[in-house]
Amino acid sequence: MFDSYAREINYLRVSVTDRCNLRCKYCMPEEGIESLGHTNVLALEEIVHLIRVAARVGIRKVRLTGGEPLVRKNITDLVEQIAKIPQITDVAITTNGVLFADMAEELKAAGLTRVNFSLDSLEPDSFNYITSRGRLSDVTRSIAKALEMGMAPVKINTVVMKGINDHEILDFVKLAKEMPLHVRFIEFMPIGDLPFYQTDRVVSVSEIKEIIEQQYDLYKGSTVQGNGPAKCYQINGGLGSVGFISAMSDHFCSECNRIRMTADGKLRGCLFGKQEINLKMALQNGASDEKIAHLFSKAIREKPNRHYMTEGWGADNKRKMYQIGG
Ligand code: GTP
Ligand code: 5AD
Ligand code: SF4
Repeated sequence: MFDSYAREINYLRVSVTDRCNLRCKYCMPEEGIESLGHTNVLALEEIVHLIRVAARVGIRKVRLTGGEPLVRKNITDLVEQIAKIPQITDVAITTNGVLFADMAEELKAAGLTRVNFSLDSLEPDSFNYITSRGRLSDVTRSIAKALEMGMAPVKINTVVMKGINDHEILDFVKLAKEMPLHVRFIEFMPIGDLPFYQTDRVVSVSEIKEIIEQQYDLYKGSTVQGNGPAKCYQINGGLGSVGFISAMSDHFCSECNRIRMTADGKLRGCLFGKQEINLKMALQNGASDEKIAHLFSKAIREKPNRHYMTEGWGADNKRKMYQIGG
């Protein structure tokens, strides 16, 4: 289905839990969060039901996010049920990679088509600092497993933060050169009102590119599967690619193809902003599939043309990243 700005919306990001086994400083407070109770989270059957209806209004790709999606109980069953929906052609996941290696075979057998990993540092101590508790080797083992299983393209998400990991930019590019990995450098976004977000920690995509281009030639035109927000480039002789997600300095809203569903069943037209449609309540009130399809259409129709974060609007959105799923 097309929205009011002629964008085709065919991609649904589904946050399956707000819980996480890490505490990335830009995402979650160290002491953890008061997680949504069991009764507030959509049941797996409800998620499948809602996606089946979403497919009727044109959703073709589903990405499971979190918190950390792999901490959700029976996530493999969920993948299997979604993959069985005839119109859904792509069931992907964005994970921190801690648990992926041990679940990879069952996830792939269930129908998982792709995996994106969050990875902000290649140095064990720094990785542990950023995530407050993670072990780098768990994630690298998972990435190796995804490659070994041929789950291409394997993408890496790296949020660049000044003074934290910006000295590693070229190490990540080297990784993308030497391995078939698609590293996407992401601009730090001010989401969720966390004290760790400070404007002087933001590194713009143009600054990141400038650093890379001092050592590497970037060639435009890499079309890595996914149609996500990243602008991708090839590196001479590289097995992978590098991409840039310039959410703040050069927003890509005019090409946006997605809507989002939170773990408590709220449908959001945009990562930023306040507007939500309560699907869980609709289900509880016995809404018919026609009514739910209508709510999906409404979210698509009313999807804002762009975010206005750079103009200072929307900064009052108190939803945290772990509640939306990125
Ligand atoms: P594919 O292209 O399908 O591989 O996925 P993706 O890159 O869209 O998904 P992923 O979950 O890996 O997200 C990568 C980064 O892009 C994360 O930091 C997300 O928060 C960010 N992102 C994804 N969609 C949007 C969006 O619509 N707006 C903004 N501002 N950021 C987004
Ligand atoms: N800014 C940019 N990216 C973020 N992510 C989480 N919080 C932020 C933020 N404030 C990224 C994670 C993950 C993806 C879903 O969102 O690194 O890869
Ligand atoms: Fe967990 Fe992802 Fe948030 Fe890190 S960014 S704490 S891995 S949900």
